[in-house]
Order: sequence, then structure tokens, then C-alpha cells
Amino acid sequence: MAGTLDQLQEKIASAKNALQKSASNVAELEKQFLAKHGTVNTLMAELKTLAPELRKEAGQLLNAFRQEVEHVVAGAKTSPARAGWTDFTMPGIKPNTDHVHPVSQAMDEITRIFERIGFIRVRYPEVDWEWYPFDSLNMPKDHPARDEWETFVIDDPFRHFKLGKMVLTPHTSNGQVREMERLKSTPPIRMINIARCYRRQADVTHTEMFHQFEGLVVDKGITIQHLKGTIDHFAREFYGPKAKSRIRPFHFMFTEPSFEVDFSCTICDGTGRVNGEKCRFCKSGWHEVGGAGMVHPNVLKAGNIDPEKYTGFAFGWGIERTYTLRKGLKLDDIRLLYSGDMRFLEQF
Ligand code: DAH
Repeated sequence: MAGTLDQLQEKIASAKNALQKSASNVAELEKQFLAKHGTVNTLMAELKTLAPELRKEAGQLLNAFRQEVEHVVAGAKTSPARAGWTDFTMPGIKPNTDHVHPVSQAMDEITRIFERIGFIRVRYPEVDWEWYPFDSLNMPKDHPARDEWETFVIDDPFRHFKLGKMVLTPHTSNGQVREMERLKSTPPIRMINIARCYRRQADVTHTEMFHQFEGLVVDKGITIQHLKGTIDHFAREFYGPKAKSRIRPFHFMFTEPSFEVDFSCTICDGTGRVNGEKCRFCKSGWHEVGGAGMVHPNVLKAGNIDPEKYTGFAFGWGIERTYTLRKGLKLDDIRLLYSGDMRFLEQF
């Protein structure tokens, strides 16, 4: 009686089973599967029992099986364990352990860099009355500058008659006056506030939730030199000894004067050129990262500190961007960081 393709497939399947079970000893494998009367040849012989129109497909199945057998035999020849001995000096297989998310790694590192120079890490509410992220920072109600921080407002029963509505904080600057209050308006203040921030913007370069870190120093005789020195120090610690920073005039309501802060590019070392070509990673050797400035007298006053006696500087920028710049990453889509895609996250 002529055989069917199903029957042949069943036989191949059970032969594969046997192959897996006995796949350790080369001599035995060769005898059982590849010898003249081994399984491969026996099955090949069955081709003749099939109807001619089935033979092509059956032949392909058998060839694939033969290749699999040959592959296993080749593996057995090179594997010490299968050849009957074990090399105990071989390095072990590393278990796949979890690790800290890249953004958390960056937060830890940034914290340590500032703690070493006397800053104290604090964390202030991520849901706050609008007085802290706006009014106290010299941005009165209805001032158009507020629009730049596309803020989520909470529909809440806790509206405070003096502090205003509740918002998801759009920047970590809400920590400035809160820190002055915590220290009972008595400098010196050296804080680093790291927290989540929220803005109504989501595209390839923005996530609605992101992280910022905010530095604030208030004391007698604080000048722009202290600000520049601190930013330079951070650049060297975080990006390496060759890294530089530069500040460019800008405008923020809560600082006077205000600056934008740039770091030199880690790919071209700030030269703007790689192997004679324009660096594709940065703008002429620099990356824009955030803002900074000398604390506005009105902000000190909001924290009950006398601006005649004390001065201060502040700075703030995004953790995600600061971190990806160091890795020399131009992320096509920043949302990848929060996608939970292990293939991406495992790389850090
Ligand atoms: N809070 C600003 C922002 O989110 C950044 C910033 C600018 C922070 C100047 C500061 C500063 O402390 O002094 O865009």
C-alpha cells in the first residue's frame, strides 16, 4: 500500500525526538542516524513507496531532516560535554539579572556628583499649588510667560485661596521657594531637586512625563562665577574631563540675568568635526541642555530672604536629555525610554 505524507511526517517527528534524546555521543549518533542503515537512509528509502506527485515535498522534508541531523552531529563534535568530557575551567553562563532603568541610573549619578560638593538632594511635590511653580517665581497670574510651561491643571477640591489651583508641576523650579521655606529662609542653601515633571506635549522629542534636576544656591556673595564653576564641574564629572560648558544670555522670569546652558559634544569633543566632516550629532560642537541664572530678587523675597543681603544662582534641565547626550545617543524617539521595550533598555 502506498504511504502518505502524513505518515512520513510522523516518522520524521519521532526520529527528531530520538535525535534530541541521544544527542550527546558522536559515534552513537552517526551509527543511529547517518550510517548505511541509519534512520536517514531508511526514511529516504521510503520515498519510493510514495505516489510520484508527493515525492518532491517528501524529499524536501527528508533533506531538511538530514541537515538537522548533520547539524546536531557537528555540534556534538565540538561540544566537550557531548563528547563525553567537561571543561570546568570554562567561564560560566551569566544569569540574566535585572538592572536599574537608565533614567534612574542618571538620577543616582547626578545626585552623587552634587552631594560631593555639598548639595543636599531634596524632592518636592510633583502635584503642587501653582504658586510654587509660577507666582513665587515672579510669574504673576495671567502672565503670558506661563504659557511656555504647557501645564496640566488638576480639577481638585483643594484649591487654596492664596496658593491657587493645583497643577502637575511642569518644572522642578517649584522646589526653589519650597527649599527656602524648609530652611526657614536662612541661607546657606545648596539644594538639588530631582523630580518628575509634566507638560502637555507628546511627540518624538517629548514625553508628557519627564524628569528634571534643579540646583539652587543662596548665600552671601554668590556670583555668576560660582554658577559657571558649578556647571563646569558637573560637565567634567558627568561627561568626562574634556567636557566644557558655556552660558548664553537668555530670558527667564525667575532669574536675572538668565542664561541658556550648553555642553560640549561628547562625540566630536566640541570641535564640531569628526574625521574632517561636520559632526552630525551636535550644532558646531555644542548641545543645548537647559537654563540657569542669578535668582531674581522677587524670588528671594517670595521665600522671605532679603535680596539686599543674599544672592543666589539656579539652574535646571532635563535628565533624559542630559543622559542620552553622554551616551552619544540621538534617540529618534525619546518615548522609547518609557516603552518598557527590553531590547532597548537592556543596552544600558
Ligand atoms: N525651569 C526652567 C524650565 O523648565 C529651567 C530653568 C531655567 C531652571 C533657569 C532654573 C533657571 O533654575 O534658573 O525650562
